[in-house]
Amino acid sequence: MGLHYRDRELCLGEKNFYPLFPLAKVRHAPFYAYDLDAMLSRVQALKSAAPKNLKTHYAMKANAAEPILRLFQEEGLGVDVVSGGEVRKALKAGFSARNIIFSGVGKTREEIQLAVSSELGQINVESPQELERIAATAKALKKKTRIAFRMNPDVDPKTHPYITTGFRENKFGMDESFLPKLRALLREHKDHLNLVGITMHIGSQIRELAPFSAAIRKTLAVYQSFLDEGHAMESFDVGGGLGIPYQENHEIPSKEISLLQEYGAMISQELGGLKGNILCEPGRVFVASSGTLVGEVQYVKETPYKNFLISDMGIHHLIRPALYQAYHRILPLLDHPQRSIKQYDIVGPICESSDVLGKNRDLPEIFAGEFLAVADAGAYGFTMASQYNEHELPEQLFFRAGREVR
Ligand code: LLP
Repeated sequence: MGLHYRDRELCLGEKNFYPLFPLAKVRHAPFYAYDLDAMLSRVQALKSAAPKNLKTHYAMKANAAEPILRLFQEEGLGVDVVSGGEVRKALKAGFSARNIIFSGVGKTREEIQLAVSSELGQINVESPQELERIAATAKALKKKTRIAFRMNPDVDPKTHPYITTGFRENKFGMDESFLPKLRALLREHKDHLNLVGITMHIGSQIRELAPFSAAIRKTLAVYQSFLDEGHAMESFDVGGGLGIPYQENHEIPSKEISLLQEYGAMISQELGGLKGNILCEPGRVFVASSGTLVGEVQYVKETPYKNFLISDMGIHHLIRPALYQAYHRILPLLDHPQRSIKQYDIVGPICESSDVLGKNRDLPEIFAGEFLAVADAGAYGFTMASQYNEHELPEQLFFRAGREVR
């Protein structure tokens, strides 16, 4: 899956194989490459294991490239957005407003205006203050807006502390102490607010299913209480967060696909009896392993303490290693098994010591001018890239059914 060698040339792809060296040779800057078929196979794996009433909304913050959005839109997915920019991009990619869920803790007046006037399928509410703003906007625009309350179930998702969201200490969602205030606001603004669901999202890169189950069980009680009070409660939204095995040399996709299937089965088990729809908002698990970042080694710098491969890729392309101490496999585009193994830190050109893509990696000896690929970079890679130090954003290449697409 993702990346593997065929005749000593590193290829991207699962069904079709896209050799990366010919692409790198003609480019003078780092680029991302994506296998769209592999993304689709993950969407389908979840669909096949989940109950029929599961409606998937892709979290486009993971990767908002147009060909990826169009692919998922054509596959019938909805989309989860977190800014006005994402709302506009989703509409442009062809998602109907009804298939857009607007999440996020700090929606501005303008963003709420856009959401209400566009009649989005669901605005996920993160605080009573936000609910008041939505109600006022809906009143001014003479609309009745579809909202869901984001609950904070206070469970440990067992992931990196920067990407937990379902702890009481996190800024996200609301615990049960907020419910009286929310009920009062619903009564006050009943002509302009339509409570259609409950939502949760406990974190990202979660590799165990137990925290999801625990959070669903806790949150289901709140859903039921609003249902009993006569609210529409069309759906229960379990959020996103499923992780992938970054550490492993996962040449066969089975582990990733099987976790997706187990996740679908878990949803079935926990929410099988739900009358309404089940919504989910996965991002990473659909796109991470289908993307890679490729760049060139500019210099090999050897010191008595360390060997550095100084590449043209850095934290301005992929900030995950610096920000979350995230591990991404790094592989040379051409394999040279006869070469001796050396240990390297793979670093970038940015003027920060945190500009490290991989530390203490054993690789066959590498020379300047050779190319490297950073694996599993399809999620939170390009979308978190910056132009720090006035670098250009990297090019993105998309492949489907054996060909490059745009
Ligand atoms: N729904 C909500 C409300 C979210 O906040 C997120 C991600 C998702 C869905 C999708 O989560 P996923 O399935 O991708 O885990 N930049 C970090 C990840 C941040 C995730 C933020 N929220 C990283 O590179 O690991």
